[in-house]
This record gives sequence, structure tokens and C-alpha cells, in this order.
Amino acid sequence: MKQQHKIRRGGATIMASLILLLGSLAYIMLLAVINGSLGFLSAMGVTLFGAIGIAKALGETVALSWGWIITLAIACGALRGALRYFEQYSNHYIAFRLLAVLRDRIFGALRALCPAKLESKQKGSIIAMITSDIETLEVFYAHTISPICIAVIVSLTVTIFVATVSSIWLALVALCAYLFIGIVVPMISSARLKVSGVNYRREFSLFNAYFLDSIKGVKDIVLSGAGAQREREVNDRSDVLLRETKKMKRDTTRAAAFTELAVSLSILATLAVGIVLVHTGALSVGYMIIGVTAVFSSFGPVIAISALPGNLTQTFASGDRVLDLLKEEPVVKPVIGGREIGEYRELSVSDLSFSYDGETEVLRDICMHAKKGEIVGIVGESGCGKSTFLKLLLRFWQKSGGTIAYNGMDIDTVDSEDLLKNVTMVSQVTYLFDETIEENLRIAGQHATKEEIEQACRMASVHDLIMSLPDGYETCVGALGDRLSAGEKQRIGLARAFLSGSDLILLDEPTSNVDSINEGIILRALREQKKKKSIILVSHRESTMAIADRIYRVEKGCMTEENK
Ligand SMILES: Nc1ncnc2c1ncn2[C@@H]1O[C@H](COP(=O)(O)OP(=O)(O)OP(=O)(O)O)[C@@H](O)[C@H]1O
Ligand SMILES: [Mg+2]
Repeated sequence: MKQQHKIRRGGATIMASLILLLGSLAYIMLLAVINGSLGFLSAMGVTLFGAIGIAKALGETVALSWGWIITLAIACGALRGALRYFEQYSNHYIAFRLLAVLRDRIFGALRALCPAKLESKQKGSIIAMITSDIETLEVFYAHTISPICIAVIVSLTVTIFVATVSSIWLALVALCAYLFIGIVVPMISSARLKVSGVNYRREFSLFNAYFLDSIKGVKDIVLSGAGAQREREVNDRSDVLLRETKKMKRDTTRAAAFTELAVSLSILATLAVGIVLVHTGALSVGYMIIGVTAVFSSFGPVIAISALPGNLTQTFASGDRVLDLLKEEPVVKPVIGGREIGEYRELSVSDLSFSYDGETEVLRDICMHAKKGEIVGIVGESGCGKSTFLKLLLRFWQKSGGTIAYNGMDIDTVDSEDLLKNVTMVSQVTYLFDETIEENLRIAGQHATKEEIEQACRMASVHDLIMSLPDGYETCVGALGDRLSAGEKQRIGLARAFLSGSDLILLDEPTSNVDSINEGIILRALREQKKKKSIILVSHRESTMAIADRIYRVEKGCMTEENK
């Protein structure tokens, strides 16, 4: 589960690494911070010039004329609007650009890690990462770093202004107040908020997962008559979530109240010090008003910081996961600039061994060979390692020992892209994208003509089916819902394989979900393809194996050729 991720890096390291990820976007972030700080200072300027006007009316010597005071106050107001616009603009620009950059980086990292990584148990958390962690990080960049920087800049500017124009004592009080509201208060409340925030998010995702699962499995719930019990469980879980939500809201509200209290006390303290200074004659009334007004109107940015801790824990956890993934080494390193297979002539495997976990060997000392134009069958009990063998032939996993050689070149020296161009696989489950049927087929042959696509579908015995759909090849897969059966999807997968220009096709149970009539059509098509394509065929079915020229049997991790 996502929340169980242990944050391994310190907060500062995560922040620094995330900022480094920004690259050239950092300049725009700087712009956002400058605009934000100047924007807030100009908002303060309106009140401040008002205070300066009052001081002048009280008879203080102020270097500015009435005309200037009024003009500057109006200018500050107008500037505030413009700067606010640019601040928001740059923040959103960064946010959206950054989401794109981050997605691109993560996708790039995943491409290198796949497919081994996506087969592992972590699949769920990777999907969670791509969807929610990146969104959380957007909050970090657009709504966390800027507020912190703006708070520091504004607080320092106001402290220096008050110290030079009004009184060093007032400035000191202000500085203490900023440190208290911006650092001490968030530290105190974060301990509490962390617990209730984590609990709330855990319950929230548990509830969501359970609810979604129930909706997905509603058919089986109805069939098993488990509706009433499931409903009770949903209600119970929803009560638990409500309890956690209340706790979280209560803690957030308390923290906000605590901050407000700290701000009010700071204002009172500033006022008290101001009055004492006037009484002792250290400060005139007019300049006391200027100093105190400046401090009063400057708490906005530090209040914003004290509202952060609630989501910082979550942000750090997301950042940590993303950084982990970006630095993860792939199980299989892609071969870039390696040798090219050229026209496929033969495949020879000798003494091949493989284990997923480094302990139990799934395949041991495998020897087999296949030639151009041959259909080689592989049979064996479920779970004996047939699919694993095909995946090794595509280098989805790194073999532990032995050789897999295409045209005499070991697979580890063959260029990864070239390998996938020359060898294609139809796996046991075909994934169809939420696009039209034609687009789904086109991923295997970008430049194929309509005729070629239809031809491939005829060979895979799926053309008539596609023509019976509402819009034929233009039918959107999403609009069909569950209408396509497993066998139909499988045949579309097969058409993809025919469409790809690969000489060698690996078929993992191509006929497992089709009836005997369609099996016959597919097998006939495969036999016809034999002239042009070579095939390695995994199947349980005796009838399918009838078309194989030679058959290997996998048993207890070993492979032996059967006499036909
Ligand atoms: N990603 C993985 N990580 C760890 N073990 C795996 C992984 N994939 C498969 N296995 C294990 O390796 C063994 C061989 O699996 P494989 O899928 O190759 O069998 P199969 O012969 O294709 O079975 P079937 O006929 O049911 O498709 C099984 O015990 C399976 O549990
Ligand atoms: Mg299999």
C-alpha cells in the first residue's frame, strides 16, 4: 500500500533533489517568487502609505508630498494586481510544464525498467505513482517552495524596513513573531497533523479500493448472493472513514486556530512595545503608527507557511518514491548501438538457465534450436515456464546462464531495438487501447495500408468480426465495453503480429480462447505464413500442435525434443 512507503531521505535532501529536477524551469520559479514577494509588498504598500499619510497629518516630518503619498498608494494597488497575475501565471506555467517533464522522466525510467518491473508485485504502486504522486509534487513546486521563499523575503524586507524607518525594537518583535508563526507553530502542529493526516489518507485509499473492487465485482457479488453483506461492509468502512475525516478536520482547524492566536498575540505584543517606545520618548506617534502598520499587514506569508505541514509529509513521501524510481537500475540493461540481427536465419539456445528470484530455477540447461520457415511447438504443464522462455527470447528478463543466439549472435550483444523489430510476441493476454480498432492494429505497423491491415485481420480470422461492429475498423474499443471476448482480443493480437514486419513470431497460446472452427482458420493462416515467417508456438492443445514441425516439452525446468 502506498502509505506504507518508508521515507528514506531526509526532508531537506528530498527538497533539494526535487528542486534540481526542475532544471531550467528553476528560473521561472525564481520569477514566480520575485513576483509573489513584490506583489505582497505592494499590497502592504497601500496600507503603509495610508499610515504614512496619517503620520504626516499628525505633524511628522515626512519627505513625501501629499500628492506623492496618494500616487504611490494607488500605484501599489495597481501593481499588486499585475504582479499577482504574473505570479499565478508563472506558478501555473511551472506546474503544468513540470507535470509534463516529470511524466516524461518517469515514463522514460519505466521504459528502461520494463517489462520486468511492471510484472512485479510493485505494479500497483507504480500506477499510483504515475497518477497521484506526480500531482502531489505539482503541489510541492507550485504551492510549497514559492510560499516559503516569499515568506522569507517579505519577512526580512519588513524587518529591515521597520528597523530603519521606525524602531529596531519593533523590528525585533516582528522578527520573533515571524520565527514563531513560521517555524515553531508549524513544528508543534505538524506532529499532530502528521498522524491524523496519514490515518485519514490510509482510510481514504482503503475505502476507495474496496468500493471500486466491489463495483468491478458486482456481477460476482450478485451471483453469490453476497449483496447485503457487502453493503454492510461498505457502510462500516464508510463510518471508519468518516471518523478519521472528523479527526483530521478537527486537528487542521485546531492548528489554524493556534496560528490565528499566535498572530493576534504578535500583533498585541508589537502594539504594546510600540506604546512603551512612545511613552519613553524613544519613538514619535507617527513613526510608531508606520512601524506597527507595517508589521500588522505583513503576516500573510508566514500564515501560509504554517498551513503547509499538513501536506508536506505526503509530498515528501511522493518525492521519495519518484526519486527512488528515477535512480533505480533496470533488471535488464538495454543494449544501445549493439549488433543487428539482419534477416532471420536461425535461433539456437544452449544451456539456458533462468530464475526470477535468484534462488529457484524456473528453467535449467535448456537447449533448443529453430530455423527459418519452421514452426516449433513448445508444450508443458501450466506454470512450467513456457511463457518465461518466450520472454527470455525477447530479453524481457536477463538470463542467468547459457546462450540465446540469433544468427549466431548472443542476445546480450544484439541491439535492443533491433531485437524487438525482428522478433515479435503475441502474449497470452492482448491489451487493447481505448482507441479505434484500426489504431489498435496500427501500433504494430504505423505505415501499413488499409489493405495490409485487412489482410492481417483476415489471416487472424478476425476481419468478419470487425466488419460486424457498428463502425467496422473505426469502432472505438472503449465504446464496446466488454463486448470483445478474450478470444476476439487474442485474434486482434495475432493480427498485430502478422502486421509487424518481424520475421520471427512467438505465439503464447494463440488458440487457447478460440473455438475449433477459428482455431482451424488461424492454424491454416499460420501454415501459410510459414513461407515468410518463422514461428515458435506455445500451446496446451494437441490439435494446435499438429501444425508444428518439431515439438519441445518443458518439464521440471528442463526441455526435451519429442519425437513426432
Ligand atoms: N514475474 C514473475 N516473478 C516471479 N515468478 C514468476 C513471474 N512470472 C512467472 N513466474 C513463475 O514462474 C513459473 C513459470 O511461469 P510461466 O508463466 O512461464 O508458466 P507457463 O508455463 O507459461 O504457464 P501457463 O501454461 O499457465 O501459461 C511459475 O511458477 C510462475 O509462478
Ligand atoms: Mg504461460
